[in-house]
Amino acid sequence: CGIVGYVGGQGALDVVMAGLERLEYRGYDSAGVAVLADGGLAVAKRAGKLANLREELARQPLPDGRTGLGHTRWATHGAPTDGNAHPHLDNAGRVAVVHNGIIENFAELRTELAGRGHDLGSETDTEVVGHLLAEQFSSCGDLAEAMRQVCVRLDGAFTLVAVHADDPDVVVGARRNAPLVVGVGQGENFLASDVSAFIAHTREAVELGQDQVVELRREGITVTGFDGGPAEIRPYHIDWDVSAAEKGGYDYFMLKEIAEQPRAVADTLLGRIDATGRLTLDEVRIPDPVLREVQKIVIVACGTAFHAGMIAKYAIEHWTRVPCEVELASEFRYRDPILDRRTLVIAVSQSGETMDTLMALRHAREQGAKVLAVCNTNGSTIPRESDAVLYTRAGPEVAVASTKAFLTQLVACYLVALWFGQARGTQWGDEVTAVVRELADISAKVEQVLATMEPVRELARSLSDRGTVLFLGRHVGYPVALEGALKLKELAYMHAEGFAAGELKHGPIALVEAGVPVVVVVPSPRGRSVLHDKMVSNIQEIRARGARTIVIAEDGDEAVVPYADHVVRIPQTPVLLQPLVATVPLQVFACELATARGNDVDQPRNLAKSVTVE
Ligand code: G6P
Repeated sequence: CGIVGYVGGQGALDVVMAGLERLEYRGYDSAGVAVLADGGLAVAKRAGKLANLREELARQPLPDGRTGLGHTRWATHGAPTDGNAHPHLDNAGRVAVVHNGIIENFAELRTELAGRGHDLGSETDTEVVGHLLAEQFSSCGDLAEAMRQVCVRLDGAFTLVAVHADDPDVVVGARRNAPLVVGVGQGENFLASDVSAFIAHTREAVELGQDQVVELRREGITVTGFDGGPAEIRPYHIDWDVSAAEKGGYDYFMLKEIAEQPRAVADTLLGRIDATGRLTLDEVRIPDPVLREVQKIVIVACGTAFHAGMIAKYAIEHWTRVPCEVELASEFRYRDPILDRRTLVIAVSQSGETMDTLMALRHAREQGAKVLAVCNTNGSTIPRESDAVLYTRAGPEVAVASTKAFLTQLVACYLVALWFGQARGTQWGDEVTAVVRELADISAKVEQVLATMEPVRELARSLSDRGTVLFLGRHVGYPVALEGALKLKELAYMHAEGFAAGELKHGPIALVEAGVPVVVVVPSPRGRSVLHDKMVSNIQEIRARGARTIVIAEDGDEAVVPYADHVVRIPQTPVLLQPLVATVPLQVFACELATARGNDVDQPRNLAKSVTVE
């Protein structure tokens, strides 16, 4: 969910609505706002996208106030209805609260409140907070104190922001696990799940820590712990501006983010390999002796980041000969994994907020493992709780389906693999030396792929009425196939599946029938050519069964041509780097196909970009 709070000299409703617009990628099942004005509290909320709330506000404007809050929801407890939309109020309609996360003991609190005569109307876990806050405020008269008293009673993960009509110049926020950032302005202050909500007003921010409460007034902010003690605050400057968070002439953020990939990849590499080919990841503060002791690497991640982790495993094991496992973060801690201080865990996450990944890394650290985060969001929870972090420098990614963040995660993982080997004194052969050199050309190669995508778009449009698309890959092409299928599921709501091509004969080939499009990511014929040759056989097998073959192959790979209905060319790259160029046509394909089906590719149904619940 996305949260915004504001107190200052501007019209609160405009500031909050503009902020919510930037946070809509976090959830768009319903939205709501509350403004303090004329001694009272005015609220509007609507199921569906923010546009519905906008219409409602146009029909029935709220009074002009200088203090307000808003919320855009990704439903967990309760269906996405008007009634379940945030903010939630107390019975007197004096307190408004918005929430991100899950309050696990809400049923118990609800019974307790009902016993004291409260009337709870929604199905959400959030509503109890409004009622508890109202009770506490009436006894202490201080909203921040009331919030602290309430927070210590809540179990689970939550970010809360609240206002009270009896204290109209104050907004209070609280944070446990789910993110909350303060924007520090002049005579005005902001609260939001993510800095993009207030970047148009200020680039100075303060990150709230775990179990902290912030009181926002026009003239300043006060941060305390849940226990009321003073808290150390961490101010920082945001080094990108509002234009980075806007569409810049593209119809969708996703199109802009796909186009930004050459730049993002180059930024992630910048200054991290010196002229002699040495890795200079000085910011990753894990001492070499610790790295030399590492006996196993475990990568944890979700969704697209998990696919980046799968590819990283190939590079890490091949280059450094250290065993590497990759696991879905949501499965990791529940199987009691074997971890100790000689395990290096790499947590890959664009947002740095994904709860499954956060819980996996906490579990790893509890077992004594060191955790390195590969993350795109400065100061987010996952890097804060890790021993070290390597930032991908993709810039803000807004479209729900990850594109540029994925490519930069790959680059960052390759860098980590090389740096890890370097710290352990691994002797590089010519192959790795070539990789280090060729990384510098990757940005230009991605650019080259992007420049030749028109036939892919045309093909995607022509397939928009299909029911199924299959994806095949081998070696690092296998996670690429999974990623291609995930993109299509997310965006086009189609049946799409990725397979390891070698597995085809063990079951999936039964899905192949006349006319089924199968996208095949063909390994380079150079390097490990045996993989290439096996894949050419696989293409023949599916073609013999009537598949329409869409073949992604390197420039100069003529062996595939006789069996391909469509060939999509990618530049030659070292084998392990191929995903950096092979993924791009799959992103373009999914985006175009979904658009042709009339879908909103930035905000696909049922999904949210940052999933801050387990
Ligand atoms: C959500 C998004 C995915 C993303 C995954 C992991 O499910 O919809 O696109 O890959 O979370 O996100 P992270 O921020 O941890 O990379």
